[in-house]
Amino acid sequence: MKIPKNHILVIFGASGDLTYRKLVPAVFDLYDQNVLPEKFAILGLGRTALSDEAFREKMKEGIEKFALNKKDASVTEKVNQFLDKLYYHAFNTKAEEEYAGLKDKLFTLDSQLGTDKNFIFYLATPPSMYTVIPCHLAKHGLSSEEDGFRRLIVEKPFGYDLETANKLNESLLKDFDEEQLYRIDHYLGKETVQNLLVTRFSNAIYEPLWNRNYVSHVEITSSESIGVGNRGGYYEGSGALRDMVQNHLLLLAGLVGMEPPALINSNSIRNEIVKVLQSLRPIKEEDVEKYVIRGQYVGSTVKGQAVNGYREENGVNPESRTETYVAMKFFIDNMRWGGVPFYIRTGKMLPTRVTEVVIHFKPTPHHLFASNSAIAQQQNQLVIRIQPDEGLLLKFGMKVPGAGFNVQNVNMDFHYSELADTYLPSAYERLLHDCMLGDSTLYSRGDAVKAAWEFVKPIQEAWKNNDQIKVHGYPAGTWGPDVADDLIEEPHLTWRYPCKNLANDGNYCEL
Ligand code: BG6
Repeated sequence: MKIPKNHILVIFGASGDLTYRKLVPAVFDLYDQNVLPEKFAILGLGRTALSDEAFREKMKEGIEKFALNKKDASVTEKVNQFLDKLYYHAFNTKAEEEYAGLKDKLFTLDSQLGTDKNFIFYLATPPSMYTVIPCHLAKHGLSSEEDGFRRLIVEKPFGYDLETANKLNESLLKDFDEEQLYRIDHYLGKETVQNLLVTRFSNAIYEPLWNRNYVSHVEITSSESIGVGNRGGYYEGSGALRDMVQNHLLLLAGLVGMEPPALINSNSIRNEIVKVLQSLRPIKEEDVEKYVIRGQYVGSTVKGQAVNGYREENGVNPESRTETYVAMKFFIDNMRWGGVPFYIRTGKMLPTRVTEVVIHFKPTPHHLFASNSAIAQQQNQLVIRIQPDEGLLLKFGMKVPGAGFNVQNVNMDFHYSELADTYLPSAYERLLHDCMLGDSTLYSRGDAVKAAWEFVKPIQEAWKNNDQIKVHGYPAGTWGPDVADDLIEEPHLTWRYPCKNLANDGNYCEL
């Protein structure tokens, strides 16, 4: 792996959960693999008053719990060396007058450590600060790249809707150039999401079939078996559409649907993703009910344990209509995908955690061996398992041994875990390292974020303006509302269910 230039990573929101669970452990994993520059430091900023030592102690705990690399005795020494590179500065991000002090701190550290005035600013703060911090940084000369690089990483959510996302973009672009901006969608940092590009563009057997002539429909599922936990307050203002669909799932659709990029570089790849997002056929407000199903989990019993419904979670309005489940059908109006339905679904409190893309191929034009209609309708499926149990599964027909020509579907199944010594880096590890190298390929570009919000807008409007559109209740531990099955119009087709409902109470209910 390449080694980035010397720099300081400045984390706003360093006393928060993201820093503790994801960011610092990911940077440690990079350090453990010797892919950080010789001169490197993390400067954590947060409101809580902490000494460098107290910050290091807390981060040590996070590294021990969440870093992915091996945790044997040799690592302990490395952890201690790494902790020496961590500094903390108590700071009120809202107070402009404190930025001069931050600048002094940063430049003092820089001259002590020799980090060549290269700074990455990571916004791990509440989104309300995304317009404030960059502006104050710029006023204090910390966005200009005259003496070193200055990069800004912005966490999701990137906006609340199209208007706020546009405003946020405009605001950021006043102070930073697009090339300095790194909008994180951690799905792009996942190894198996990147593997979608390799599967498609380095295998002669798939690419010729990857279009409307051979594909009947595409299914993308991202299910979670947990609820909103202690994030009820955040989730109430978000819901699954904003939390998962607008970003992660549409991005997956972009990667599945895109044309081969001319080159493997940031602009070529991101140009192709944005074309797909711009080709999504808008769902008219009056059609939203037909194409989009929303649901909310209700209390049930899962594996013998009583489970709360969403409305009983902390920070959630007892009459909330926020969706914890979305399933939808849409089309990509371009030459490759004209007429091919894409079905996507995501939800909390479903039976299992799985993210997968399923390419359903059309049946053969003539059913030579079809002694019964079920076999005649069988379709080849390519299942790209993003997580967990990362891998690739191809389903195809084989002759049943014995007399006649009976056909049965069998699996050809590859699991990443079968590769010896395979280390799958965490998404944050990959993304942070890329930003350190100045490579924005796996970060979302402003135009893509905008296109995704444009697509989502009529759905948000319909749900806001029409309270007749149902929020379907589904018992926690089931695959979501039954009506989602009706989105798939062909009577013999259904979603792929990687496992059965876990809830004892299989009844569905209307909220
Ligand atoms: C985050 C959402 O972006 O993605 C969470 O805010 C969700 O609600 C998470 O749980 C899912 O990510 P992953 O990597 O676990 O699939």
